[in-house]
Amino acid sequence: MSTTHFGFQTVNEADKARQVRGVFDSVAPKYDLMNDLMSMGLHRAWKAYAVMVANVREGYQVLDIAGGTGDLAIAFARKVGSTGRVVHTDINEAMLRTGRDRLLDAGVALPTMVCDAEKLPFPDDQFDLVSVAFGLRNMTNKDAALKEMCRVLKPRGKLLVLEFSKVARPLEKAYDWYSFNVLPKLGALVAGDDASYRYLAESIRMHPSQDELKAMMKKDGFGHVDYHNLTGGLVALHVGIKC
Ligand SMILES: C[S@@+](CC[C@H](N)C(=O)[O-])C[C@H]1O[C@@H](n2cnc3c(N)ncnc32)[C@H](O)[C@@H]1O
Repeated sequence: MSTTHFGFQTVNEADKARQVRGVFDSVAPKYDLMNDLMSMGLHRAWKAYAVMVANVREGYQVLDIAGGTGDLAIAFARKVGSTGRVVHTDINEAMLRTGRDRLLDAGVALPTMVCDAEKLPFPDDQFDLVSVAFGLRNMTNKDAALKEMCRVLKPRGKLLVLEFSKVARPLEKAYDWYSFNVLPKLGALVAGDDASYRYLAESIRMHPSQDELKAMMKKDGFGHVDYHNLTGGLVALHVGIKC
């Protein structure tokens, strides 16, 4: 049986999705609060930057993958107008349910669907934009997911991958100390779950670097790929064009 990583552990590929589901089932109720606390609000700026680069127009067809509690979906819904469509998707029902409540509170009604990024239930060439924020890192077969994202994009459509990445060397020590000492304690205090936040820190270390992910996206079908480092490489926004 093939193996993969779940944080620093080596696990059977068949088990990873279940373990990831356990993490997000556990953190869903406190997900937004924890995002604000652990990033000191920075995740809002990273997402706002992604929305700016997306340059979504009226009438666009947008697919938000691993959309969780819906930050990007809400922002895109405000841009596509009545002629466009944003589909808010995630593999995890608990995250989607929390997201759908937030969307409705914000006065935004969108199609919300449980779906696995590795097997997208959409025909080829459907979307002008596909986005995945802080989701790719958790997927078992990232190449399969990237190929699916490319498949459902229209020719010249754009993929945005916003994800934790390889931080600049001078920040490494402080970032490691924060990730492995502060994060799990914050998780225990606020969400009653230190293990999920230890997984977060570990999974970031196991994720491909900026250049590795760029190479993967090219191999998986994107003709042009570029990335933007944010906050010293703590996060990177990869932009892939299907061409
Ligand atoms: C850290 S959350 C990100 C949520 C949201 N995009 C954000 O930026 O706040 C990661 C999400 O990825 C989802 N996810 C993990 N594996 C997935 C897969 N194979 N397909 C779709 N979503 C997946 C999880 O359920 C979780 O909601």
